[in-house]
This record gives sequence, structure tokens and C-alpha cells, in this order.
Amino acid sequence: MKKILDVISQEMEEAFEKAGYEKSLGKVTLSNRPDLCEYQCNGAMAGAKLYHKAPLMIANDVASCLTESEVFESVEAVAPGFLNLNIQKSFLKEYLQKMESDRKFGVEMPEEKKTIMIDYGGPNVAKPLHVGHLRSAIIGESIKRIARYKGHEVIGDIHLGDWGLQMGLIITELQERQPQLIYFDDAYEGEYPKEPPFTISELEEIYPTASAKSKEDASYKERAMDATFKLQSGVRGYRALWNHIISVSVTDLKKNYANLNVTFDLWKGESDVHDIIPGMVSYMKDNGYAHISEGALVVDVKEETDTKEIPPCMILKSDGASLYNTTDLATIMERMNTIRPDEIIYVVDKRQSLYFEQVFRCARKTKLVTPETKLTFLGFGTMNGKDGKPFKTREGGVMRLEKLITDINEEMYKKITDNREVEEEEARETAKIVALSAVKYGDLSNQASKDYIFDIDRFTSFEGDTGPYILYTIVRIKSILSKYQNAGGNLAQVALGEAKTPQEKNLMLEITKFNAMIDSAYEETAPHKICAYIYDLCNAFNSFYHETKIMTEEDEEKKAGYIALLILCRDILETSIDLLGFSAPERM
Ligand code: ARG
Repeated sequence: MKKILDVISQEMEEAFEKAGYEKSLGKVTLSNRPDLCEYQCNGAMAGAKLYHKAPLMIANDVASCLTESEVFESVEAVAPGFLNLNIQKSFLKEYLQKMESDRKFGVEMPEEKKTIMIDYGGPNVAKPLHVGHLRSAIIGESIKRIARYKGHEVIGDIHLGDWGLQMGLIITELQERQPQLIYFDDAYEGEYPKEPPFTISELEEIYPTASAKSKEDASYKERAMDATFKLQSGVRGYRALWNHIISVSVTDLKKNYANLNVTFDLWKGESDVHDIIPGMVSYMKDNGYAHISEGALVVDVKEETDTKEIPPCMILKSDGASLYNTTDLATIMERMNTIRPDEIIYVVDKRQSLYFEQVFRCARKTKLVTPETKLTFLGFGTMNGKDGKPFKTREGGVMRLEKLITDINEEMYKKITDNREVEEEEARETAKIVALSAVKYGDLSNQASKDYIFDIDRFTSFEGDTGPYILYTIVRIKSILSKYQNAGGNLAQVALGEAKTPQEKNLMLEITKFNAMIDSAYEETAPHKICAYIYDLCNAFNSFYHETKIMTEEDEEKKAGYIALLILCRDILETSIDLLGFSAPERM
């Protein structure tokens, strides 16, 4: 379905042509002065130079060609030569009717369906999730849903950090504590136990302990490196232990991500490409892409146009060990071999931008990807506390994601039960849903690349630009709709009417922006555009609601028209929040 601005522009372009002017001057935009008009066209101003004529004369000529227009209700030429425009209520109604009957409210499917991979989440096995991982999960999930809605094939991959020194550290610490474990007996040839020799909470405590020890004790670190090497070279007991670590950790991660309403199509990790690294390395050497520099194997990636120093991309360390780079490159190779995506989008902390620049250049130079493959780095900013510093616990430690979610659920629960009688269980359930909207909307309403302040009081407020405000509005609509049904009304039999008040017209105008908004949210990987749209839409709805007697309206047709508008509003809002990754409760 055509975007409303395109339909309107077309009408205006025809008028310019009819009046004897260049068609392209007829481009219409939203009004800069909503107090004066709904849309505007500045074409006569540009036309003045072209035709050596006063802009107001041109504007008047054009306006007189539009007196019979079915699109414009009023076309006013104002000094020095602007065209102030308002659209016909019948035209607006028809546009909304078309949206209503379209499954995607007027969003068009792409001419070419692309396969897009999204690399997001990126948690590290056996390390607790912290707030940095929260942003990747929230933003990645949303852009996955947006691209899918836009009609593309989208595959989300969590890209677990499951293969580095951290695994060796855990194994080393386990051996310190339980040296008798069968996994450490090199002579053992039997089956290993099915039950892991630790729980998730032990695991999460083991890693920080081991990491601290390795920083103080060189021989401990040596052992951890040796354990990493043994694991990576396939020593049976180490692999079996590692499998336990992965499965205990992944079970816990799945629970955490499910609470966030985040899901992944692929649960691959760095370890999955271990076996293809040697092949990739020889390919890079044989084709002359990689060379030895100070013992390490590197690929030069600097370019003449660089304004800053871009260091070479290191493929293997001097001891032959692979690095974070190596697994990312091998993962690109594997993704190209198996899925062949048109684009890979990485949703990672923006402090890794130089790193990804190197990896992308290296992948292009070594032809791991085709020239057409798009590699996109979507770097996000830091989530700060109210003091403007990276978000910490009250004691100053790293804030665990679970703790943050519990805090916000608790805060929401308090707000919901404040001065009200609500059943405990229902209140808890609602608090969880609303709290998720608070966290996600608080994050997504900012441009991803910017740092933002995580302000629990503001985010959980029912007023202002917040998730709870959006949900509150949806719930308000739902409650009117159920009242209508309870009074014998049939939601399937209502039809949109023409706007009767400025507030109703304004609400209808806000709704029409949906398809253009979705297109730009997709093209610019910008969920914040959805937030801005639904915030405006909710404001427009609420001022309509305050001005209009809906349930007490006596004219049944008028009333049914309001109800039809409410249904469309609800559906668009619920679709939009689903694209942001949260949902609305029935009541709150
Ligand atoms: N595990 C990494 C971290 O916690 C993030 C992974 C990002 N994705 C990637 N393909 N490198 O910092």
C-alpha cells in the first residue's frame, strides 16, 4: 500500500503540472506548524527561481487547480509562497479502511526477500549475564522482529562465548576443588557420568574465583592455559566436563532469556567453528592473504583512505592459539557456507567497533564473503546509572541481570498494588509484564548507539514516554472494547466513520504513518522509531478519549465508528509492541 505522503504528493504534483509548472515541485511533507495545517508543500518557493515569478503567484495558481480535489479539503497559499494543506475526511477514512483490511496495515513486502543473520546476545558460558548483555538481547530481538515483519528471512544466532581461556579457568578451579573427579583421570576409558559435578550457582561462583586467582598466581594461570589447550585439542575428560559446563549454563541462559521474551534460532558458539579453523588458516596462507609478523599470523587491513590507524587483524598468536578474531572469521565462513546470508548484523557494545572494522575488512579482503554481502555493526552505548557511570549495584559491583529484573518487578508490583485491591497472583503476573515493558521501552526509545541512564523511577512511571504508559493506553482501549461487547455490541460489525472532531482526525492522521515508520525502522535498524510512533499515537488517542463520549454516544453509527477506530488503534499498538519484544496485559 502506498504511503500517505506519496499519495498526497502525487495529487499535488498533478496540480503543479496542470498549472504549468514542473511536476517534481509538488512534494508534500508533514506540517511544521500543526496549529495551522496538517501538511505543507514548499514547491512554489523553489519554483520562484525556476520561473522568475513571485512564489505566492505560483502557489495561488496551484491552489486554484485543487478546488475540486478529493484529497485536499483546503489548500491555502500563504505568504511568501507556502501551501498549507488539510486533507479530506473522506479520503482519510478510506486510507484507514485500506489499512484495516491489510494484514500488515499497509506495510509492503520487499521486492527481494533477503536472508539476514543477526548475531546478538553473545553471553559467555558460566559467567552470569550482566546489564551489558541486556542491551544486546533487547535491541537484537527487536531488529530481528522488525526485519521479519518487513518480510525477510531472519535468523538469530546467540554466538555463545564458550571456547576461550574462561573454560580452562573453570576446569582448573574444579580440579583444585575435586581432584578425584574421574574427568581428570587420563587412564579412564569408560563412560562419564550423566550428572554434572556442580550446580549453576557453583559454576557462577567458580569463574570469578578462578579468574581472580589467575591474576595473582602465574602458575595457576599457566595451568588454566594448559587446560584450555587440552580441552581444545580434544582430551576426552576435559570435553566431557566442558559439555556439562555448557549444558548447565545453557539451561540457565534459556530461562533468563525466556524471562526477557528473547529467543534465538541458533544456539551456536565460538566452539562450533573450532574444527574449521585449520582449513581457514591454510586458505588464508595459501592465497597470500596472511603473513607472519613478529611470530603471529596476521592479515593487513589498513586502507589508504584511513584517517586513523587500523592495526592488522591477528589470525593466530605466536604460540599458534586462536583468538576472538579467529572464531569470528571462521563463523563468518561457516555462515556463508551453510546459510549464505545477504547480510549479517552484529549487535554488540560499541566499544568493539574497531575490532569489528578489522574483522569485516579481513573477511572482505580474504573473500570469506562476496562483495555483495552486507556486514553491519550495530554498536550500542552504555547503560549508565543515575550518577552517569556504568550501571552498578548499590555496593559498586557488576549488576547481574537477574537482580535488575527482580528489582524492577518488585517496583512495578508496588506501583500496581498501591491503593488498590488486586489479587496477589494476578498482581505479580501483571507486574512482570509491565516491568518488561519498562525495561525494554526504556532501552529501545533511545537511539541504540547512545548511552542512556537507567532510571527505574522514570521507566516504571505510568506517565510520560514510558513502556507502562503505552501499556496503560492499550489496556484502556481494551477495556472500552469489552464494555462495548458486554453491552451487546459486536466488534465484527463496526465500520470506520469520518472524523467528527479535530482530536479524532488527529488520531486518524497519526495512525496513517505506520507503514512509512516501519520502513524507516527497518532500513535504519532503528527500533526507537517505533517507540516515537507509538508514543505519539497514544498521546493522540488519549486526547481523543478525553474529548469524546464513546460509550454514552447515542448515535449508534457514530459509536460503532469510534469502536472501529479503537480496534485499529489497539491492533497497531499491539503489533508495534510485539516488534519491540513485549506485550500488554488484559488489565492493569
Ligand atoms: N561474548 C562477547 C562478550 O561478552 C560478545 C560476542 C559478540 N559477538 C561476536 N560475534 N563477537 O563481549
